[in-house]
Amino acid sequence: MPHIYFAAGPGNWADYKEPLSDALRKAGIKATLSPEPPADPENVDYIIYAPVGTMTDFAPFTNCKAVLSLWAGVEKIVHTPSLTQPLARMVNTELTEGMVEYVVGHVLRHHLGMDAHIHGQDGVWRNAIMPPLARERTVAVLGLGELGQASARALAALNFNVLGWSRSLKSVPGVECHAGEDGLDMVLSRAEIVVLLMPLTPETTNVLDERRLGLLPKGAVIINPGRGPLIDDEALLAALDAGAIGHATLDVFRVEPLPPGHRYWAHPRVTVTPHIAADTRVTSACKVLVENIRRGEAGEPFLYLVDRTRGY
Ligand code: NDP
Ligand code: OXD
Repeated sequence: MPHIYFAAGPGNWADYKEPLSDALRKAGIKATLSPEPPADPENVDYIIYAPVGTMTDFAPFTNCKAVLSLWAGVEKIVHTPSLTQPLARMVNTELTEGMVEYVVGHVLRHHLGMDAHIHGQDGVWRNAIMPPLARERTVAVLGLGELGQASARALAALNFNVLGWSRSLKSVPGVECHAGEDGLDMVLSRAEIVVLLMPLTPETTNVLDERRLGLLPKGAVIINPGRGPLIDDEALLAALDAGAIGHATLDVFRVEPLPPGHRYWAHPRVTVTPHIAADTRVTSACKVLVENIRRGEAGEPFLYLVDRTRGY
């Protein structure tokens, strides 16, 4: 009988305890499931992990078949020296749906200039400026993985002129795809709205630095539900202050929760959302966890394995 150590923190345990037990039972998997650090770590078969838990040393878990992350982004664990076990990250349809809705919602807000109307209910009938159609608006999606591709497709389905950029060249219907350094410069120079959906790695840290921010058309909007350090904060604040960047909608930050005194909170050209772009929903996450445990027990390959050398 496999033993599962739920090391994703007490809050998650309260949410997952019953749904995960039910999902295991429904899948016909008899397993023990415990949130306590085990006295006999060598008997643990699976570890369920989230950065909010306290798990840092994986060395004692010598027979652990896989570490299963509740989060899609794994930058906080992927380079842990003691982690030698396979690491699977969270991919599921509801996480993807949530991200697509966040991206489409915030792109449409800026595309349609909704703020002017929401904040401008002053009795003056201003109908001189019509927003362009989506087909006249260029949106770039940086990162064309699970979340980036789904978001890019949804934007393309709304007729936006969608540019995509990723490490390896992709082919996504309705999306003009690019890769490589030169590709990024060209994509940025055309993007009126940029969506960041890359993982955080040494290569992607500060990918939007002062030089690249300077390539964007004047007044461009940045939407970042990827990871905070993808953007050089000081360079972004300077570009926002100067009006070179029209607005930044930021869901993720170097320090989370974003400290109350951070300049982003009060900046008139910044919208802060509190890392809620796409939540891992318990029921659909349990399906993924259980499927990977089933695979582990059957000796089949795990889903959504992280490549340690790439870091995502
Ligand atoms: P994937 O691993 O599926 O996709 C990552 C994409 O980024 C791939 O297209 C990859 O390129 C590209 N990429 C990676 N490194 C580089 C690089 N150096 N240069 C160019 N492109 C690069 O990840 P997901 O789509 O599932 O998730 C993306 C990120 O979204 C997560 O890592 C996490 O940080 C964030 N996230 C945020 C949430 C929120 O609520 N705010 C919720 C969930 C995730 P290639 O295709 O060539 O490999
Ligand atoms: C993330 C997540 O990686 O919430 O941000 O899954």
